[in-house]
Amino acid sequence: MHLFTPFEVRDVTARNRVMVSPMCQYSCAADGLATDWHQVHLGSRASGGAGIVMAEATAVTPRGRITPHDLGIWSDEHAEALESTTEFIKSQGATPAIQLAHAGRKASTERPGDGGGPIHDDRGWTPVGPTETPWPHDEALDTERLDTDGIARIVDAFVDAALRSLEAGFEILEIHAAHGYLLHEFLSPVTNTREDQYGGSFENRTRLLREVVAGVRNEIPEGTPLFVRISATDWLPDRDSWSVGDSARLARDLEPLGVDLIDVSAGAIHPDQQIPDTGPHFQVPYAERVGESGMPVGAVGKITTPEGADAIIRNDRADLAVIGREHLRDPYFAIRAAKELGHEAPVPRQYTRGF
Ligand SMILES: Cc1cc2nc3c(=O)[nH]c(=O)nc-3n(C[C@H](O)[C@H](O)[C@H](O)COP(=O)(O)O)c2cc1C
Repeated sequence: MHLFTPFEVRDVTARNRVMVSPMCQYSCAADGLATDWHQVHLGSRASGGAGIVMAEATAVTPRGRITPHDLGIWSDEHAEALESTTEFIKSQGATPAIQLAHAGRKASTERPGDGGGPIHDDRGWTPVGPTETPWPHDEALDTERLDTDGIARIVDAFVDAALRSLEAGFEILEIHAAHGYLLHEFLSPVTNTREDQYGGSFENRTRLLREVVAGVRNEIPEGTPLFVRISATDWLPDRDSWSVGDSARLARDLEPLGVDLIDVSAGAIHPDQQIPDTGPHFQVPYAERVGESGMPVGAVGKITTPEGADAIIRNDRADLAVIGREHLRDPYFAIRAAKELGHEAPVPRQYTRGF
């Protein structure tokens, strides 16, 4: 097994094990509709040889956007706006995937490049979360605690978004339950202090994610792969927080619900987090630990070289090498990797004279 061994999951075969990590482009007008930017950005990484090209965190409801510029998929119009992108990705031999997201209490902020702070003018909105406690910030926004009806509507929104994603032509779906956004906010005792059936015990805190997964799995075809991205740890060792052990336990609970892979990231639940190490491959040990449950895993974080990505697969530390920023620097990472590692490179016909 190596980086260019195809990855088979349900009815999908990705041509290699390089996945473009979901990366917000903050490139929509204030309506969540995909633009030419999304087509060119995602299309380039498909031409660049990646096996799976995953679209950024895509909001399942308008209030689930991080910023007013985020991609959304809460109407048929949103799905239609993505069709040409998925078609192009497939024409390049890559597999189109989409990350379905709700920003929870981290919603209604400026783009990172514009400061990233909460928006208080009429471009913004009231975020929702497991409790009324907002994301800690000097100018924090009032946050609405979801009641059980609101929670049920969130589950429905993920299911509707999943079906629309399939209409749009995506072949793999990923539920975003990481990085301090809504589903992670329910998982973590740092943010979830509810006293109803959605808070308290591990079983209660994982209930919303399990309901989303079960709801989506129930409605999508048997052959469609379903991934879940988690933060393996909250990086808050000194308080009651989500741990790598919790993640391994969660993976075991999600497997019988029809999840095919855990995409293992970390952190971002609280600004007090202490990241112990940010060197190359720093999150791979978390993926390995979650993978011990038997669940296939993706490893992400500072994977930047062909040899490094290949070693992760060869040493059976993860099933996918999920690569973010190196794909911003080089859309042709996978072609370069194939050349360097001595495999047939997925070079587009139009570019063969360049290689
Ligand atoms: C510009 C940018 C946007 C990102 N947006 C998302 C996102 O939409 N969803 C997500 O799960 N992670 C997001 N991330 C995190 C990346 O997917 C990835 O996990 C992280 O950058 C670490 O991997 P890397 O070292 O290969 O970049 C983003 C990162 C960057 C740099």
